[in-house]
Amino acid sequence: MSKRILVTGGAGFLGSHLCERLLKDGHEVVSVDNYFSGNKQNIAHLLSNLRFEAIRHDITFPFYVETDQIYNLACPASPIHYQRDPVQTTKTCVHGSINMLGLAKRVNARILQASTSEVYGDPEVHPQTEDYWGRVNPVGIRSCYDEGKRCAETLFFDYYRQCNLQIKVVRLFNTYGPKMHPNDGRVVSNFIVQALRGDKITIYGDGLQTRSFCYVDDLIGALVRMMNSPANVVGPINLGNPSEFTVLELAEKVLQFTCSKSKLIFMPLPQDDPKQRQPDITLAREKLGWEPTVPLEEGLKETIAYFKKTLG
Ligand SMILES: NC(=O)c1ccc[n+]([C@@H]2O[C@H](COP(=O)([O-])OP(=O)(O)OC[C@H]3O[C@@H](n4cnc5c(N)ncnc54)[C@H](O)[C@@H]3O)[C@@H](O)[C@H]2O)c1
Repeated sequence: MSKRILVTGGAGFLGSHLCERLLKDGHEVVSVDNYFSGNKQNIAHLLSNLRFEAIRHDITFPFYVETDQIYNLACPASPIHYQRDPVQTTKTCVHGSINMLGLAKRVNARILQASTSEVYGDPEVHPQTEDYWGRVNPVGIRSCYDEGKRCAETLFFDYYRQCNLQIKVVRLFNTYGPKMHPNDGRVVSNFIVQALRGDKITIYGDGLQTRSFCYVDDLIGALVRMMNSPANVVGPINLGNPSEFTVLELAEKVLQFTCSKSKLIFMPLPQDDPKQRQPDITLAREKLGWEPTVPLEEGLKETIAYFKKTLG
């Protein structure tokens, strides 16, 4: 059945893929975005679709629209962007969530929060399960995002307990794919852009820190499954790809697939950079019947093809 769906952060990397997917599924979609880190180009191809609307709005201010479901994705996701205006980042997480939860309550909509693996901070538990409470620095340069997202989760669960709201909370781990911002410092896009331009590939630390990378199509499938899961599935649920690679391995794959001659350079590790990050997705498998299917090699090739096209 066709639904009216609001996607906050709809012009961002994940939001634009989600809008595309929901339109394909036959829904009416409203994207709300203030274009802080998103890009109108990401949704330009959707504008001619009469079931799609794009509205410029900052979710730290109240917003009203009739809707059946809300995907709350608005928030800059990369350190370069979220550290540019840390106060605004926390406001987006906290005030933005309050406004969207208030809207969901008013129109009786289901609401999904895109939380993050950053709520685990620099974890002592590996891989991270949802019942791990995390190890987050409350006063560091990443805290605006990490603590903002933690507080957003708290708000979602309080609205659930206090107002009986239909909530869904997912913790996303590193996701990559076409439409990532080319200059936002995220490791996959960074390496690909550097390799394609023949620039040096910057590795922070010794490159032996591990990351897991989920391809965007896999992740979007999981968001939709979570939103439409039974009412008693509220989360938090980890979504990501548990296959683990060192940052160095990723750099080597990117060099191989781009046929680049770029050299690797090693730089000091930024403050509070986690050494290990890997989702335990047992719960997602059990509750959503979901697991990622796109191998890193395949996803990297798609992403490289996108950057080749956009960088000319
Ligand atoms: N991509 C990942 O690997 C990843 C990992 C964990 C969590 N997440 C979460 O998923 C969501 C989407 O991430 P993304 O990678 O697409 O990031 P993105 O920066 O590409 O997209 C975020 C979008 O939100 C918009 N936005 C920011 N502040 C806003 C505000 N106050 N009002 C309205 N719009 C606002 C931005 O302009 C942008 O279009 C974020 O909430 C992020 O925290 C993403």
